[in-house]
Amino acid sequence: MLRTHNCGELRINDVGKKVTLAGWVDKMRDLGGIRFLILRDRYGYTQVVPGDDEKVVEALRKLKPEYVIQVSGTVRKRPDEAVRTDIPTGQVEVVADEIEILSEAQTPPIYTDRDNDTSEELRLKYRYLDLRKPRMQHNIIMRHRIVQTIREYLNKNGFLEIETPMLMKSTPEGARDFIVPSRLRPGKFYALPQSPQLLKQILMIAGFDRYYQIARCFRDEDLRADRQPEFSQIDIEMSFVERNDVIEMAEGLVKYVLEKVFNRKLGKQFRRLTYKEAMEKYGTDKPLTHFGMELQELEELFYDTPVNFIKTVLEKGGTIKGFVVPRDMSSFTRKRIDSYTKMVQELGLGGLIWVKNIDEPKSSIDRISPGISSKIVEHMKIPKGGGALIAAGEREVLNEALGILRVKVAQDMGMIDADELDLLWIIDFPMFEWDDEENRLVARHHPFTMPHPEDMKAYPDDPLKIRSLAYDLVMNGNEIAGGSIRIHSTELQRWVFEKIGITENEANEKFGFLLEAMRYGVPPHGGIAFGLDRFVMILLKEKSIREVMAFPKTTTGADLMMGAPSNVPDEILKELKIRVMENTREV
Ligand code: AMO
Repeated sequence: MLRTHNCGELRINDVGKKVTLAGWVDKMRDLGGIRFLILRDRYGYTQVVPGDDEKVVEALRKLKPEYVIQVSGTVRKRPDEAVRTDIPTGQVEVVADEIEILSEAQTPPIYTDRDNDTSEELRLKYRYLDLRKPRMQHNIIMRHRIVQTIREYLNKNGFLEIETPMLMKSTPEGARDFIVPSRLRPGKFYALPQSPQLLKQILMIAGFDRYYQIARCFRDEDLRADRQPEFSQIDIEMSFVERNDVIEMAEGLVKYVLEKVFNRKLGKQFRRLTYKEAMEKYGTDKPLTHFGMELQELEELFYDTPVNFIKTVLEKGGTIKGFVVPRDMSSFTRKRIDSYTKMVQELGLGGLIWVKNIDEPKSSIDRISPGISSKIVEHMKIPKGGGALIAAGEREVLNEALGILRVKVAQDMGMIDADELDLLWIIDFPMFEWDDEENRLVARHHPFTMPHPEDMKAYPDDPLKIRSLAYDLVMNGNEIAGGSIRIHSTELQRWVFEKIGITENEANEKFGFLLEAMRYGVPPHGGIAFGLDRFVMILLKEKSIREVMAFPKTTTGADLMMGAPSNVPDEILKELKIRVMENTREV
């Protein structure tokens, strides 16, 4: 080994020891003419000072930040005035009697010791430097700990870790596939898995009973802060279970990670909301709930309203809803309300009504509808000093717009607590939804999800009314996991395919292997998949999953460090019998 200790290890009781350290020069310092340095590695920082030897003083002169060096010397207690309490090695320093340069470094194009405004492009191009930053080191190390803890939990609960292939056939999760051409069978293509969905179901049919995998998934879709073309799932499947069993197992996993890695004990069961409740109360299926301000129905206050635009909306079958702003309503100036109004107009609403309960109830429609503000204050239970924002519109548009406004107002008022763990289940999703572009029904989760048995009986001819046995776990306003109980009969599976417009031939072509496997004894089963990157992002309070992945891609799917995607030589294309269409190649 090139070292006896690492840079985070030496303490006061090591004083007097002869040691050898190796690492990066974090900083060079000059104090009263003496040059010394801070040596850094993954484990921490150690101060290195020269002894009396001229050779060492000379060697120190040559050093620059990010050089990799080896230092041998003796551990010494720092003088009292130089003791640092903010780092674990802060009481000692190493008096060097030998310094060897192992690798020189050019001046780095980005800082490696602090966060600053460096463009993300540079950060990704020089990812190896970016990853040297303390924050990034912390994130990657914590991700490792989280993953190991997850494995520990699942292993303890009898799950088997089983790998599934990357070169496979398309599985439908609603995105485009990345495809890989086959050289041995020219003209044929593999698809990279959007998830191991079908294979985990096959593993249940094979009798493995409980499966998990930290699975890499590939989806060619538009990217955002919480999406990458390549991401990881904690993929789980269980046999002989019902919805509640999967939910409890997954909830146990989240609690286990929070307790073991973050020392936070969550006793209570996570709240469960139906999709319908979530949409009505929060206008979204991934709500932030900890600050309240739920949407309230106000229609009954407006049955005989003299306010024309509300009357028109109600006559057209729309409704009127709003939410309480619990405090500081006096800070809602006209300008501020105008900006909120503009926001909801862009989201498809006609406008916004405000109510203030400061000295006495007041509202923007008092003139047309005298007395209405007192009624609203009473109905919505608006506290003194608070107020409400209200709008009318078509129910879905209204819920969505008010849902977005509600979060914006809470943000502006500082009501969103970054330390809060806002965890809840959304259940009873619709099985199908209508896709305007494709002009057909699509499966809201995926087509292997079990429709709700009650609804199958009640609405056999009205698929849009059928709920499914799917569930999502929402954490701080992000969907961190999704899953469902699966269909385990070929007949029902074919029925779902038919509803979403997949013909018998197509079904056989795409999923024939699953349908075939289903003929040989299927245990009732269900599962879930966590978006690992998202889960880690939220646990570490980061804003983008790129901050918790070692080598993420840009929003246009490029790897700036490697320069991918890139051209391939013509001979390779020839072997694959592929020709690139003219004028499609970027130069
Ligand atoms: P779903 O498509 O809901 O379900 O994915 C599960 C979870 O994966 C995360 N996720 C993503 N994370 C980063 N980048 C992306 N592009 C991305 N897409 C999804 C989300 C999501 O909740 N096979 C089913 C699961 C099952 O039914 O068991 C599936 O993949 O956090």
